[in-house]
Formats: sequence, structure tokens, C-alpha cells
Amino acid sequence: MLTSFSSRYGPWALITGASRGLGAEFARQCAERGLNVILIATNADLLRAQADSIRSLYGVEARTVALDLGREDILKDLTAVTDSLEIGLLVNNAGVSKVGPFLNLTADQLVKQLHVNARAGLILAHHFGKKMVERKRGGIIFLSSASAMYGTAYCANYAGTKAYNLIIAESLWYELGRHGVDVLGFMAGSTKTPGWDANMPKPNRFVKVMDVKPTVAEALNALGKRPSLIAGRSNRLGYFFMGKMLTRKQAIRIVSESMDKMFGPFDNSV
Ligand SMILES: NC(=O)c1ccc[n+]([C@@H]2O[C@H](COP(=O)([O-])OP(=O)(O)OC[C@H]3O[C@@H](n4cnc5c(N)ncnc54)[C@H](OP(=O)(O)O)[C@@H]3O)[C@@H](O)[C@H]2O)c1
Repeated sequence: MLTSFSSRYGPWALITGASRGLGAEFARQCAERGLNVILIATNADLLRAQADSIRSLYGVEARTVALDLGREDILKDLTAVTDSLEIGLLVNNAGVSKVGPFLNLTADQLVKQLHVNARAGLILAHHFGKKMVERKRGGIIFLSSASAMYGTAYCANYAGTKAYNLIIAESLWYELGRHGVDVLGFMAGSTKTPGWDANMPKPNRFVKVMDVKPTVAEALNALGKRPSLIAGRSNRLGYFFMGKMLTRKQAIRIVSESMDKMFGPFDNSV
């Protein structure tokens, strides 16, 4: 199992947003499965601490690149580090997930979110995907979200970027899959991370908050087996029945009202 994962997706994994939360756990589990890791985020100190811990725990190589993925030219500084390495796995995980009324964010904040959550992953998948296709092996994971399934008030732009991640992943699953490259769109549900906590959610008996460890294990285990996956059995069942029993209009209302209950109440006066 360990050998096959590293021979399929090694020797290096590149993980964006690896300074904390799901990305830090992706980096840890990739290292545990025998891959060297390149960790990307803006916080250089947190990245260095993650890399030190991974090296000492798993005996693999770990490098860091402090990089703002919202920048125009994200490949310039990155390729100086990656050009000499064989990246067999790309995890497009970095994300900005601010919850709140659409009009309370500035247009610049929304565009930056679009760049980090969608544009950066597109550029990286294009750059590293090309090399993977040449080698006829590799894997790419796009972090999507359950909010990609239906229009979701109070995170409209975020949900839109996550729908982008889902659809590009499923499309490339077929297209790059024919060249030996596995692609997965992974729809994380509510997961306990610093990003989740920063949005100050209120407890909700209908929402099961998952831990990062099983969530990331599900994603890595699903890679190469399917085009996309919703994290967590109860989330999968919930969305299955919503799709069967509700119109899109009803579903959009339900998920939007639950956002208001869990993260609001939001003042909708502009
Ligand atoms: N947690 C959930 O409930 C949940 C649910 C569904 C989907 N997801 C998705 O899962 C992914 C990870 O979420 P999380 O909860 O672990 O988030 P998090 O705790 O907020 O961590 C986000 C990561 O992205 C990095 N990042 C943010 N802006 C960046 C930028 N401009 N350039 C480079 N790196 C940047 C952060 O590092 P720096 O601050 O150091 O830059 C951090 O490492 C996201 O794509 C999110 O949309 C999460």
C-alpha cells in the first residue's frame, strides 16, 4: 500500500495552504505515505515549523516556499524550487473562506479570493499536469466543498470558486486520466481547522464537524478511484437525499438558511 502510493504519486508532493488546517494534514499524511513534500503558504514561520516536524517524524525531505497565491505571477518563485524536482502529486488546497454578506466584502477582496481559491490551482494544475502527462503518472487533488453543490448565501463567491474546483477536477479526471494522471475533486464538509474556527460557527445539531485526519485520509484513499467525493458518510447521505427529494430552489433555501443560523444572523441592510 505504502509502496504503491509513493510509486504512483512520488517522489515529491506539492501542497498549497500547508501551514495549517487541512493542508498541514495533507502534508503530514503524504509524508507518512513516503512522499517528500513541498509546502506552500504565506506564513514562512509556520511553514518552517511544519517542515521541521515532518522531517523529524517521517524522515522524508520537506521544503517550503512562502508565496502569496493571490499574486499575479505565482510560478516565478515556485519554479526556482520545483524545476529540478519530480512533482508526482499536487494538492490544490489553499483557500480563503470568509463567511458573510456578499456586499460587505470589497471587490478587491472577492477577486483575491477568486485568485487564491481558483486561479492559482488552475495555473499549478496546468504547469505540473503537463509534466505528469509526459511521465504518464501522477495525481492532482482540487479542494472543493459541499458548498459547491448548491448556491449558498453568505459565501456566494467562495461557493462559486468551490464549484469551479469541482468541475475542473471532474473534467480533468477523464481527460488527464487517459494519460495516467489521477484527478480528484474533494468536497470537504465542515472540518475543524483554524479557518473554520475563524468564521465563528455556532453549534448546529444537523452539522457534523469532522476532524482533519479522517477527512484527509478519505481524500488520499479516493484518489485514482473516482472523479469526486463528498467527505464523510453522513454528508454523502445528506446530499444524496437532498438531490432526490428537493428542488434546487428548496435546497438553496435550506443551505442558505443554515448558513445564516450557523454563522449569522447577518445584517442584510446595505
Ligand atoms: N474547514 C472546512 O470546514 C472546509 C470545508 C470545505 C472546504 N474546505 C477547503 O479546504 C481548504 C483548506 O481549508 P482549511 O479549513 O484548512 O483553511 P485554513 O485553516 O484557513 O487554512 C488555509 C490555508 O491556505 C493558506 N492560504 C490562504 N491564503 C493564501 C494565499 N494568499 N497564498 C498562499 N496560501 C494561502 C493559509 O496559509 P497562510 O495564512 O500562511 O497563507 C493556510 O495554510 C480550503 O480550500 C477550503 O476552502 C474547508
